[in-house]
Amino acid sequence: MTILIIHSSPRSNGCSSTIARNIAKKFEGASLLEINLHKENLPYCAGCLNCVKKSIEACPHSKQTLLMRDKMLKADLIIVVTPVYILHMSGQLKTFIDHFPSIFLMHRPEKAMFSKQLIIVTTAAGPVCKETLKEISGIFTQFGISRIYKLGFAVASPTYNSIKKEKLLKIEKQSNKVIKKVKRNIFKPKVSLKIRFNFFIYKMVQKKFPASEADGKHWQQNNWFKTGRPWK
Ligand SMILES: Cc1cc2nc3c(=O)[nH]c(=O)nc-3n(C[C@H](O)[C@H](O)[C@H](O)COP(=O)(O)O)c2cc1C
Repeated sequence: MTILIIHSSPRSNGCSSTIARNIAKKFEGASLLEINLHKENLPYCAGCLNCVKKSIEACPHSKQTLLMRDKMLKADLIIVVTPVYILHMSGQLKTFIDHFPSIFLMHRPEKAMFSKQLIIVTTAAGPVCKETLKEISGIFTQFGISRIYKLGFAVASPTYNSIKKEKLLKIEKQSNKVIKKVKRNIFKPKVSLKIRFNFFIYKMVQKKFPASEADGKHWQQNNWFKTGRPWK
């Protein structure tokens, strides 16, 4: 099993990253990949839409984004990690996501994404994680992932080491519940009704009005206009 942690706090040993690493450690024998967005210094999306119109290779930041995409495709479990910054995900995580519209369901989804599981870990000072979890979950659903687990913690502490004992126990308990579910479902792909429905709508749209030549070709070559499905 391969796990990818996508860190997006500038604090490598902050609350969110430490919780995510503790979760990954519970998967004995798994190999661990990481993307440290704070170290990557990925520029903002240039808005050229080359990725959608041509390919991710044509992105001006492809030297970084191709490696990131490959890590996502390799992982069986992705753990996306973010602190809440002004009620939403961190800017680093948003910048990362902005580089991947081409693998959205409506464009050229990657077959490998449909069998993955995702854990979202977010921490905040107060009880405000709900929106952030919802927005990230919505985005990764559009990447084709059905099994998504949300962990949001109001840590009320500036550092991991100063989180109160009772809170740490709660964090561990909730994390363990999710870990159990992930282990139960590993290598058991599931495709949600929402994803199937979205795919069906995009199939009709792409057939009549392909968003780009690259999209049209991709859907044709994969036989998705007929009986083919990216999750088969
Ligand atoms: C720029 C900035 C904005 C923040 N905005 C919020 C917020 O809107 N609500 C909240 O409860 N905490 C907010 N926080 C606190 C962090 O979400 C919290 O400390 C989090 O646990 C930090 O995660 P980290 O240790 O992984 O970096 C903010 C922190 C920073 C630095």
